[in-house]
Amino acid sequence: MTKTNNMTKALLSTVVVALAIAVSFLSSCKKKDSTSTPVTTMTLYDSLGGTTMVADPYNPGQMVEAGRLGIRKVVDSTIFVIAGDTAINNYFTVLLAEVTGGNTTGFSALSKNLTDFFCVATGAKNFTYGGKNMTAAHDPAQNSRMNGKADNSDFDAFVTDLVAGAHKVGLSDVIIGRVVAVVGTLRSQVVQR
Ligand code: HEM
Repeated sequence: MTKTNNMTKALLSTVVVALAIAVSFLSSCKKKDSTSTPVTTMTLYDSLGGTTMVADPYNPGQMVEAGRLGIRKVVDSTIFVIAGDTAINNYFTVLLAEVTGGNTTGFSALSKNLTDFFCVATGAKNFTYGGKNMTAAHDPAQNSRMNGKADNSDFDAFVTDLVAGAHKVGLSDVIIGRVVAVVGTLRSQVVQR
């Protein structure tokens, strides 16, 4: 009788152990399944065209990342909108005087720096920004090309011009919304009065 009881106990504990192993195996399989699925997070840069190489209309015969080309189009388009916007174009007197006089060196430098900046800010991996940080770039004491300190309403006008510039080159409202969100995170560095 005792022998039978012992055998039953042994059998039961074997079943319990087997069940425990099965449960832990199944749950580890489940965990593995949920983590082994590659998670592909598209950056804003990817949504703008990403690293796909396309012909560069600005440099005939060369290729450029589609994301960078998209950003450069928005940047140049926005600079033109700002140039005509009396709400804030007074901050850009140095640039505008140069361009009016036929000197586009400053424009090219600004276009490149803004393009690099937005490439990096939207998630590009193959570019770096080499300009001033956002506080220094918008402090007239540190950037003689910035004609005065901007306030919140200047910043709002800048965003309005950016949206207009982006619309002009055909960006969707969804993408523009995401660009505006990135820009919004920089308000406290740009607004200095
Ligand atoms: C988040 C919004 C903004 C971003 C990301 C931004 C970005 C930049 C960058 C990257 C530069 C170039 C810095 C360098 O070359 O070292 C720059 C220059 C400048 N920014 Fe902004 N900016 C913003 C808002 C504004 C606003 C609101 C104003 C004025 C209303 C403004 C006026 C200027 C001026 C005047 C320059 C110098 C342009 C030149 O080189 O002639 N920016 N900005």
